[in-house]
Amino acid sequence: MFALASLLTLFAASVSAMPALSVRQTGATCTGLPDGSTDTPAYNFTLAAYNTSLPNANSTGAPLVLGWGRPGTSPEASEWAVSTYAAWGSNDWPYFTLTGGALYPIPGPNESGLDAYDFALPSGYEVAFLVMIHESTPVVPSVYCAAADGDSEYAKLAVNNDVDSFSLCKATTAQFTNVVLVYQADANDTFYDYSTCYPVQVNIVPYEA
Ligand SMILES: *[C@@H]1O[C@H](CO)[C@@H](O)[C@H](O)[C@H]1NC(C)=O
Ligand SMILES: *[C@@H]1O[C@H](CO)[C@@H](O)[C@H](O)[C@H]1NC(C)=O
Ligand SMILES: *[C@@H]1O[C@H](CO)[C@@H](O)[C@H](O)[C@H]1NC(C)=O
Ligand SMILES: *[C@@H]1O[C@H](CO)[C@@H](O)[C@H](O)[C@H]1NC(C)=O
Ligand SMILES: *[C@@H]1O[C@H](CO)[C@@H](O)[C@H](O)[C@H]1NC(C)=O
Repeated sequence: MFALASLLTLFAASVSAMPALSVRQTGATCTGLPDGSTDTPAYNFTLAAYNTSLPNANSTGAPLVLGWGRPGTSPEASEWAVSTYAAWGSNDWPYFTLTGGALYPIPGPNESGLDAYDFALPSGYEVAFLVMIHESTPVVPSVYCAAADGDSEYAKLAVNNDVDSFSLCKATTAQFTNVVLVYQADANDTFYDYSTCYPVQVNIVPYEA
């Protein structure tokens, strides 16, 4: 009898805990982020930069695309960095998917046969991808999360469990003018001009094909 009673108590406790559990964060890359954050959203999306200290033209923010990043040393792979469409001017990777914390830009027709893979993102680095010939078993680090944001219609991109350390900065690398998304912008970095950086958050905007 006593055993049954405590079993019932246990059952009641776990039932009442369930609704809270079901909205918790999913995935280690979402640890510490609000309930409802997920490393595998059910939708594909584009990214948009939202000023956190300057006025915004609208609530979505400025569209982001992939543009050329730092010049690399490998002939097999090139680095593409998340850039503003306003600065870069073309959109060869029209949308993203996020799966288990790995963020995949999806190639458009101009990039067919190629894939873009994320990497462990160090402080001070552009949010960038290695673009190379499609691999059957690529090693793609899990570092990203779609962080829930109750104050906004959009989830926010997080990297390294952090949504609040992105900036847009003028690049100094490309042959063309570019403005790139940087994680924990560093005053000493030579690939962008720190004096031009301003803080943004990155909206995850559901993509409709
Ligand atoms: C997301 O994009 C991938 C790659 O193009 C595609 O296979 C998948 O069906 C898309 N998912 C949704 C929900 O549209
Ligand atoms: C941020 O605000 C500045 C000043 O209003 C503007 O020039 C810039 O385009 C804005 N950027 C974004 C991403 O909204
Ligand atoms: C929002 O404003 C940005 C400029 O910051 C513009 O590029 C973008 O197209 C606008 N988006 C919408 C949905 O109006
Ligand atoms: C593909 O490349 C052509 C030629 O450079 C360019 O005109 C076109 O805008 C590109 N398409 C996309 C989707 O970026
Ligand atoms: C930048 O470099 C200076 C001189 O080498 C150094 O004192 C400073 O700590 C560095 N700042 C950062 C943010 O790394």
